[in-house]
Amino acid sequence: MALLETHDLTKEFGGIRALDDVTIDVESGELVSLIGPNGAGKSTLINVITGRLSPTRGEIYYDETDLVGMDPFEIAHLGVGRSFQTASIFPELTVRENVTVAAFATEHGSFSLNFFRRRDSYDDVHNRTDDILATIGLEEEAELAAESLPYGDKRRLEIAIGLATDPDLMFMDEPTAGMSPSETEMAVELIHDLLAEWGTTIFLVEHDMDIVFDVSDRIFTLHQGRLIADGTPAEIRDDPRVREAYLGGENA
Ligand SMILES: Nc1ncnc2c1ncn2[C@@H]1O[C@H](COP(=O)(O)OP(=O)(O)OP(=O)(O)O)[C@@H](O)[C@H]1O
Ligand SMILES: [Mg+2]
Repeated sequence: MALLETHDLTKEFGGIRALDDVTIDVESGELVSLIGPNGAGKSTLINVITGRLSPTRGEIYYDETDLVGMDPFEIAHLGVGRSFQTASIFPELTVRENVTVAAFATEHGSFSLNFFRRRDSYDDVHNRTDDILATIGLEEEAELAAESLPYGDKRRLEIAIGLATDPDLMFMDEPTAGMSPSETEMAVELIHDLLAEWGTTIFLVEHDMDIVFDVSDRIFTLHQGRLIADGTPAEIRDDPRVREAYLGGENA
């Protein structure tokens, strides 16, 4: 069984079928991207898998565990993390504190501060925080209030917070949205680093096709809630259904 599998996953909002029988699988260590025009169902798929929305029907398995019916807290506890499309930062805390809080909150999956913890665990958390800040390139900003960061650095801090929870599978919904080209390039390098250094499986939603084709092992394409293509970047680039979906009059 793959690390993550969905079978015939369907989500309806009233009359809108945002996900229509979506069947996908993600192997451990892969970097997969999910593409599709605006409104294709990408965020809905992430929200359903991570437990923020319940599916209308269908199955979801993570590491052979059935996720349907679990709440986001339980799913996160299993090692499924996410970097949020909307801000998840404590503005008045420093960059370092934001990362440390996230790391403490999920240390060893306990989801609570354990005041009887041995001291070396605290050191572990602080070491991990330093590693994350170095990996993500926020070392020099570590003592600044998060609210004082420029936009691109805030987005990177969100990724750092997601990372601090030490996920085995990380969902990233448009992590580079609104970034400048140079910030985007840095974020992409970071995503590469994550996979290499942490062995994290990445599930990326990204609108920049150059990035998607560059970093992905495999690409899923959604169109009007349906999975219309699943393949390597080369396969997806040449797929007539994908071209049709993007050229078919929707703002891609
Ligand atoms: N909470 C909700 N209630 C009702 N309809 C919703 C809800 N969330 C999403 N939808 C609808 O479901 C469809 C899929 O939306 P979704 O946000 O998943 O698309 P997306 O692929 O993430 O788009 P984008 O690229 O703009 O982020 C859209 O028609 C949207 O209007
Ligand atoms: Mg979305």
